[in-house]
Amino acid sequence: MRRSKSILALAVTAVIIGVWLWQFPPRWWLNSIKPVDLTDPVAAGKSIIVKYECRECHLVGEDGNRLRAPDLNNVMDRLDSVSIRLWLQNPRSIRWKTLMPNFHLSDPEIEAILSYLSVLNNQSD
Ligand code: HEC
Repeated sequence: MRRSKSILALAVTAVIIGVWLWQFPPRWWLNSIKPVDLTDPVAAGKSIIVKYECRECHLVGEDGNRLRAPDLNNVMDRLDSVSIRLWLQNPRSIRWKTLMPNFHLSDPEIEAILSYLSVLNNQSD
């Protein structure tokens, strides 16, 4: 009887921690579950943009949606990298009503996206 109670308590705790990590993932957790090989950060950024389907809303390079969200080809002319980092960490913490979802990106994913965006920015000058 006592043993089954403690198993139940353990299971409930595991579910609570699971839901917490899923709904409100802390940075250290995102960084450990979504590592990125940054030897070629531009190529990594390029594939992350594809993976998360950023083009559903944004124009990136020649492709993407021109109507729903700002063109990302020249975003670095409008925003500095600190602001873009904060935005990508959690868009709603900056603009409560934004359409952009929180993708729960890890720090290396954000660095890779920034590298790719800065290359695009130089091309569109
Ligand atoms: C569902 C649509 C949607 C998706 C998908 C989306 N975004 Fe956005 N994003 C927006 C909107 C809309 C804005 C403009 C801010 C606003 O109006 O709320 C924005 C703003 C931005 C900005 C700031 C641009 C500026 O000029 O203000 C960056 C950078 C950005 N998004 C990057 C990304 C990246 C990287 C991805 C993929 C990981 C992505 N977005 C996916 C809708 C989206």
